[in-house]
Parts: sequence; structure tokens; C-alpha cells
Amino acid sequence: MSDIPTKGASPQYFDAAGEGSGLANKRASRRQFIKGVIASGTAISTAGLVFGGLGGCSADSPPVNVGGVERLLSLNVNGQIRRVDVLPQETLAMTIRYKLGLTGTKLGCDRGECGACTILVDGVPTYSCSMLTQSVRGRSITTIEGLEGQDGRLHPVQQAFIDELGPQCGFCTPGQIMSAVALLETNPNPTREQARVALSGNLCRCGAYDNYINGVMAAVGRV
Ligand code: FES
Ligand code: FES
Repeated sequence: MSDIPTKGASPQYFDAAGEGSGLANKRASRRQFIKGVIASGTAISTAGLVFGGLGGCSADSPPVNVGGVERLLSLNVNGQIRRVDVLPQETLAMTIRYKLGLTGTKLGCDRGECGACTILVDGVPTYSCSMLTQSVRGRSITTIEGLEGQDGRLHPVQQAFIDELGPQCGFCTPGQIMSAVALLETNPNPTREQARVALSGNLCRCGAYDNYINGVMAAVGRV
């Protein structure tokens, strides 16, 4: 007889303890089996949180050290050298938000889908949730905090987005701004279509896409 368990399989399959073969035992062991599956699923989900970092809009805790050894790095962030202890598996978004305190960079999906965490690395828009901090040593990092002028004035793109009512809830706004700034620094006079393409990696749950594109076009000539 095959040893492969099938639906309606032998009591041994459902009986985690390998005991009993009566109906009552079958029911009890089926319950145990299901409990076991649920318990293992919970463990897997929790492991995902620990290893993947605490993503989502409500994330307000630093990354958990799960065995790696932190290493002291010097990072060039917003024109300043910042020294920070970093885990091998730590993402740039985690370092920026929870170790450098630059919480303007948002974490939405934490897996390279929404663009909320967009920053500039050497002027290129980059999802900071999908880049390891260890990989950006020696590179120039710009976050939304780095756009403000020395006199405290908003960057022209920030002002244009406000003027065009881009921010609704505002959660996606820093990422949208970083993408727009990168576009205008490489292409100071984009078409509306080019602006759309440049911001296509930034999702907006509030659906303010047209307002953001209006903002980019309003900032043309001001950057
Ligand atoms: S948080 Fe969504 S792409 Fe990084
Ligand atoms: S303004 Fe709310 S998600 Fe874009």
C-alpha cells in the first residue's frame, strides 16, 4: 500500500501522536492536525515580519536584530556624512527611518511595489525598501528632507505639488516628489507623457495622479 497520505487517509496521517484508530480518536487527531497547521502558519508569518522588517503605514519600530552582526558604516545622506550601525540584511528604508530619524521616507508595501519609499541614490530614483544599506556606501543619498533650501524654503517641486493640490492623504507624496525631482534634473522640460512615465512607479491610493502630473508641469522652469 502506498505511504502517500490522501484525503480520507489512515488515522496515522491525522493522528499527530500516532495513537488510536477509532472515530473519536480520528476526530481528535484531525483537530490536532489542523491546529498544528495553523500554528505553523502563524510561525511563518511572524518570521516574515522579523526578517522582512515591519512594513506598512503604521510601522514605527526599528528593525529587529535576528542574528546578524551590525557594522559601522559612513553614509552620505543629504550632503552629510552619517555614521550608523547597520545589519547585513537591513534595507536602506529601515536605516533611513529608524536609525537616522528621517521619517519623511514612507514605507508602504515594503516589497518594491508602491514607490512610497522612493529616494535618490546618485540622483536616480530608487525604492529604498528594496536596497540593502550596505550596498550604498560611497554613494550620495537624498531623501525628502534633503530637498529643503538652506533658508527653509520648500523645493520648487514641493511647492508646485501643494499649489496643484497633489497631496490628499499625503502618504505617497514624498515618493512622488523624489521621482519628479529626478525627472526635472535630467529632463528640465518634459512632456506630460514623460512626466506620467517618470511617476508611474509611484502609486497613489487617493488617485491624485492628475494633480501630481499637474504639479510636475507647474514646476517646469522652476527647478
Ligand atoms: S515601500 Fe513600497 S516600494 Fe518600497
Ligand atoms: S495622496 Fe494619498 S496615497 Fe497619494
